[in-house]
Amino acid sequence: MMDLEVLISEEQLQQRIKELGEQISKDYDGKEVLMLCILKGGVMFMCDLAKRMSIPVQMDFMSVSSYGSATVSSGVVKIVKDFDEPLDGRDILIVEDIIDSGHTLNYLKTLLEGRNPNSIKLCTLLDKPETRTVTVDVDYVGFTIPNKFVVGYGLDYNQNYRNLPYIAVNKNI
Ligand code: IMP
Ligand code: MG
Repeated sequence: MMDLEVLISEEQLQQRIKELGEQISKDYDGKEVLMLCILKGGVMFMCDLAKRMSIPVQMDFMSVSSYGSATVSSGVVKIVKDFDEPLDGRDILIVEDIIDSGHTLNYLKTLLEGRNPNSIKLCTLLDKPETRTVTVDVDYVGFTIPNKFVVGYGLDYNQNYRNLPYIAVNKNI
């Protein structure tokens, strides 16, 4: 087991997600948005964010793998499960748990642009700008965090800790 310390509490997460939902709803006023979740890490964030949106929302899910069981980005992204819905002409919002090296989102954005959506925006709960190796334009950031390996609220270490309602750091990594 990891020796965990709370970095972002449940209350802080929920407050920020409420703000993001209000901001995004305002920015997409008069439109409907297709929220695209990157499994599995983004699932908690996507669901809580969707509940805070006051505009019409649809949801779809993609599963990519870039990490294996390591804690360092490989830069290799593989689509394990694609979205079910066509993106043609849609206003899409990619919802991610965390941007680290930027490889995953850089690859995904390029891929999804090729499917002719009307617009693409990107929302990440956590941003680790110190470890960025590829430039990614992010439209909405929940929290900017230092270069530490975090778990909880969707984020895992060897598939564990995703269910924590807060974000925690491992004191030993
Ligand atoms: P990137 O391609 O390096 O930006 O990696 C993004 C993906 O790596 C995220 O969607 C996470 O699945 C994973 N990841 C990056 N940093 C962490 C972390 O601190 N904890 C857990 N997973 C992480
Ligand atoms: Mg992820």
